[in-house]
Amino acid sequence: MTPTQTDRAHLVRITGSLAEIEPASAAFLYELVRVGERGLLGEVVRIEGERATAQIYEDTTGLRLGEPAELTGESLVAELGPGLLGAVLDGVGRPLPRVAEVSGDLLQPGVHLPSLDPDRAWKFEARLQPGTEVSGGDVLGVVAETPGIEHRVLVPPELAGRLAALESGSFKVGEPIGRLADDTPLYLAHRWPVRRPRPYARRLPTDLPFVTGQRIMDLLFPVAEGGSVAVPGGFGTGKTVIEQSLAKYASADVIVYIGCGERGNEMAEVLDEFPRLDDPRTGGSLMDRSILVVNTSNMPVAARESSVYLGITIAEYYRDMGYRVAVMADSLSRWAEALRELGSRLQEMPGEEGYPTYLGNRMAKYFERAGRVTAAGTPERSGALTFIAAISPPGGDFSEPVTQAALRVTGGLWALDPALAHSRQFPAVDWQTSYSLYADACAPWFEREVAEDWEAVRNRLFALLDRERDLREIAGLIGAESMQDEDRLLLEAAALIRELVLGQNAFDERDALSPLAKSYALAALAEEFHEQAGAAVRSGRALEDLDLGAVRQALNAVRYASPEGLDERVAEARKAIAHSIGKNSVGEGGA
Ligand SMILES: Nc1ncnc2c1ncn2[C@@H]1O[C@H](COP(=O)(O)OP(=O)(O)OP(=O)(O)O)[C@@H](O)[C@H]1O
Ligand SMILES: [Mg+2]
Repeated sequence: MTPTQTDRAHLVRITGSLAEIEPASAAFLYELVRVGERGLLGEVVRIEGERATAQIYEDTTGLRLGEPAELTGESLVAELGPGLLGAVLDGVGRPLPRVAEVSGDLLQPGVHLPSLDPDRAWKFEARLQPGTEVSGGDVLGVVAETPGIEHRVLVPPELAGRLAALESGSFKVGEPIGRLADDTPLYLAHRWPVRRPRPYARRLPTDLPFVTGQRIMDLLFPVAEGGSVAVPGGFGTGKTVIEQSLAKYASADVIVYIGCGERGNEMAEVLDEFPRLDDPRTGGSLMDRSILVVNTSNMPVAARESSVYLGITIAEYYRDMGYRVAVMADSLSRWAEALRELGSRLQEMPGEEGYPTYLGNRMAKYFERAGRVTAAGTPERSGALTFIAAISPPGGDFSEPVTQAALRVTGGLWALDPALAHSRQFPAVDWQTSYSLYADACAPWFEREVAEDWEAVRNRLFALLDRERDLREIAGLIGAESMQDEDRLLLEAAALIRELVLGQNAFDERDALSPLAKSYALAALAEEFHEQAGAAVRSGRALEDLDLGAVRQALNAVRYASPEGLDERVAEARKAIAHSIGKNSVGEGGA
C-alpha cells in the first residue's frame, strides 16, 4: 500500500452489505461510516488492527474497491425534538414519504434526510430564566407539538451549567433557543446514540397497570406500566390486530410502532392503515400521538437491525418528558433474523438455530429499556415505557430461540393459540399458557380503582377455566350427556365466559374497547350466574330448566353497553340471572 493511499480510508473489500475499510485503526464499534462516492451509510461492526468492517444500511450494488470511506466519529443517533409525532421513519431515521414507500419507490442510496423537518418553525415558550443552573433533563420550555401533546424541550443528558440566555419565540430545530454560560448553544432538538439507553433519575416499581381495554389482558394477564410482554403467535393468530388495538385504546400517551421488516406488503398495510386509525380520545388521527419506524424486507438487513433501537430511543425521549409511552414491535423475530444474518455474514460462531450466541444478551439489554422511571431533571416527573413485543415463531413453535430468549426477560406472556384463532376466539390469547408477573403488584390498584374483589373475581375466573379444561377431557371420554348437572353447568358457564368475557371483537366499535368497569362487571356477572345456578342445581333443579339464553342475552347487553348505560345493563343482567334460575328478582342476590 502506498503512503498516499494509507492517508485516506478506502474500501478494500466488499461482500454483500459488508464493506471493509482501511486504514481505520481509530474506528470504534458502531461508528457510522459513509462509504463510496455516493456516501452510503453504514455502521462499524468489527475492528481488526487497521481494518474496520462496516455493515452498510443501503444497497451496495455498484460500490467498487478503492472508493473512499469516511469514519464520521459518531454512532447512529436519533434526532430528538418536536416533529417526531406523526413521523414515519426508516430504520436509520430518515422520514419516509408514505406514498412513495407504499408504491415501493425507496429513497435513493446515500440520501441523507434529517428525521426532523429543518424548515418548520415551532413556537417555543421558555420556562426558565437566564441565570438558572441547569442540568440534563431539565425542562427548558415547551412547544405545542400536536393537539394532544405538549413537547417538553429538555436540556440534553450530560449537559450542565448556568443558563446564560433563553428566549421564547419561533424557532426551527437548527436555530439556537439559548445558551449556557460556557457558550454551549441550546436547541429545540438534540441527538442521542440509539444503542445507549437514555439516563433517568431512578426506577419506579411496576405496580400500576398498563390498561389495555382488552378484557382477557386486563382481567387475566395485566402488564404493568413500564413492563414488557411477549406476544408470540403463528401466522394469522392476531398479533397485528392486538398491537393496533393497544395503540388505539391502551393507557398510553404516545405510541411508537416499530415494524421491523415484516413482509413488504404487510408494512405497506401498516403504512396505509395506521395513519387512518382515529384516536378514540380526541377524535383526531392516532398519528398525532404516534411515531412509526418501519422497514420493509427489501431494505438492507442492517437497517432492520437498527430500527428497534431507533424506536426505543424515541420512546425513551418521550418518557423523559413525563409521558406514558407504549412501544409496539411487530415483530421482534424479524430483528432477530436480521441479527442472525449479520452474524453469519461476519462468520461468527452460530448458536442455536443459527442465531448468534449473544441473542439472549442483546434481547435482555433491549428489554431493560422498558421501565417506569422518575425522569432526570426538574420539574419532577415520571414517565413509563411499556414494551409489547410481537414474535412470529416459525410454525408457531414457542420452543424456538427467539421466543425463549424473550421469555427469559419479559414480565408477561400473551401466547397466541392457532386453535383459538381457528375457532375465531379472539383475542386468541391462550389462558392456559399465558402469564403475567405483574398481576400481584398491580392487584391493589385494581382493587382500589375498580372493585374491592377484583383479585377474587380474577382467581375464580382462573379456577373456573382450569376446571373446564379437566371437565372437557372427561366429557371427551364419557360424553357430556352422562356428566352430572353441576359439571355440565360449569361447561355452560365457561362457554359464556369464553364468548362474552374473554372474547372481544376488535372490529366492533362497541366492543373494541372494554373499560375496566365493564370487564369486571362481565366477569363478576358470569361468576354470579355460575354460583347461583350451581346452588339451584344442587338443591335439585334440573339444568334444562334454567333459561341460559336469557342470561347470554343479558350479558351480551352488558358487553355492548355504552359507558353511560353500563350500570343499568348490569342491574338488568342481575335480574335476568335471578329470573333464569327461577328466583324472584326482588332483592340483591338474596337466598
Ligand atoms: N380481536 C379480534 N377481533 C376480531 N378478529 C380478529 C381479532 N384478532 C384477530 N382477528 C382476525 O384474525 C386475522 C389475522 O390477524 P392478524 O393480522 O393480526 O394476525 P397476525 O398474527 O399479525 O398475522 P401474521 O402472522 O400474518 O402477521 C384478522 O384479519 C382478523 O380477521
Ligand atoms: Mg401481523
